[in-house]
Amino acid sequence: MHFVGIDFGWERGASGLALLDWDGTSLKLRELDLREEPAEILRWVDQHAGENAVVAIDAPAVIPNKTGMREADRLTHERYGKYDAGSYPASRARTYWRRTTGVSKALERAGFAHGDRMAARAKGRWQIEVYPHAAAVQLFALRRIVKYKRGTVAGRAEALGELRGLLLNRLPLATPRLAPPELLAIPEGGRALKQVEDKLDALLCAYVAAYWWYWGPSRNDVLGDSARGYIVVPHRRTAAVPLADLRESYLLTGLDETAMAADAIAQFEEWFEQARVAGIPEPNAMTLATATTAGEPSARVVLLKGLDDRGFVFYTNYESQKGRELAENPRAALVFYWPELERQVRVSGAVSRVSREASEAYFRSRPEGHQLGAWASKQSEVVQGRETLEAALEQARTRFAEGDVTLPENWGGYRLEAETIEFWQGRTDRLHDRIRYRASGGVWLRERLSP
Ligand SMILES: Cc1cc2nc3c(=O)[nH]c(=O)nc-3n(C[C@H](O)[C@H](O)[C@H](O)COP(=O)(O)O)c2cc1C
Repeated sequence: MHFVGIDFGWERGASGLALLDWDGTSLKLRELDLREEPAEILRWVDQHAGENAVVAIDAPAVIPNKTGMREADRLTHERYGKYDAGSYPASRARTYWRRTTGVSKALERAGFAHGDRMAARAKGRWQIEVYPHAAAVQLFALRRIVKYKRGTVAGRAEALGELRGLLLNRLPLATPRLAPPELLAIPEGGRALKQVEDKLDALLCAYVAAYWWYWGPSRNDVLGDSARGYIVVPHRRTAAVPLADLRESYLLTGLDETAMAADAIAQFEEWFEQARVAGIPEPNAMTLATATTAGEPSARVVLLKGLDDRGFVFYTNYESQKGRELAENPRAALVFYWPELERQVRVSGAVSRVSREASEAYFRSRPEGHQLGAWASKQSEVVQGRETLEAALEQARTRFAEGDVTLPENWGGYRLEAETIEFWQGRTDRLHDRIRYRASGGVWLRERLSP
């Protein structure tokens, strides 16, 4: 399945284009591009979409109402107005909507039916209209939109950096998962800034297409319809089930090994998503246990920052206590505990460093204060006092006053490649459910453990 995002440019502007591929487990970013003319956009879609694709267009695709505000815009305004996600009347720029509806109609002729009523996971060729600003608010649980379209150049660059960080950090943990993408750096201004903005916008549109395909109406709103114009907006927070009810239902239903995913990582993703939807604060906090070769154990909390077919990713200082222990004994265990759901997940396996490029990509997405902190702290070493730390931070600030903060040599990511994952669900009378997955010859074996 392919997902195409089109961030439609104004009359003469270029349009951003993005292509994501679904491999059955995660999404991969394949292309980020720009095209000027509608005919070129159509050719690009034709080249990349294949027979099974959802094309998401950030522009009016259907406008029978040529004077007033479209019903879809009115509804978006009503629902998302509080986020400042202003919508526009259909009459505002005729040439613009002629271009956009023209592309939408040409797509229809090429077999891309309007997908506002498509079933989740349907095959075939589809197109939908989307609204990236509202999508970002919903997907990333923001309080207001990220304003990277308007304002001063410096302000736009900063806001675009924020959007880039959200895409880099959140989508690898979302469902469907976007495997950690390499994303363009944010230029300081000018044409280059606009181009990156168009491409990142297109990427967000393509992700919304994938989210719509994966979840369908259970986690998306369709405002309006394909006769009068419509906008698809993801929502992750509307299905607000009270935590107590959720726990109650998990306590009652428990774990049925035949109903659990064959793939342990997929099962983890499902639980992680449920923990997040339940509103558990920092559901990605996990206890990491390491040990010296002499068998002396140590444990601490770190944050899960990436999850892929190969395992669980976290970032730290390579010279910290955990770093030293992992250097001599590259094996570790992780524990997630979500008390509100009476759930625990235990993971064990071998640990290795992620690539320097992956660490750099993650480091760039962090706020500058965190980046400087990584330079200032000799993690796990004894310090004289707080002043020493503050002086080190000041030194780092001076050193990088002129440019970007670079990734320190001794800082980066680790990936724990899971060999076992155990899912623990609290039940009544201490008869808890425990289902353990064990990796064996390329497949996961499942077994039930006694509580
Ligand atoms: C909620 C939470 C999240 C944390 N996340 C990280 C993290 O992602 N990376 C990290 O190096 N330390 C993180 N820490 C700090 C670690 O628990 C620990 O203090 C630090 O890494 C030093 O550990 P070490 O001396 O065993 O190497 C976190 C602490 C808490 C409480």
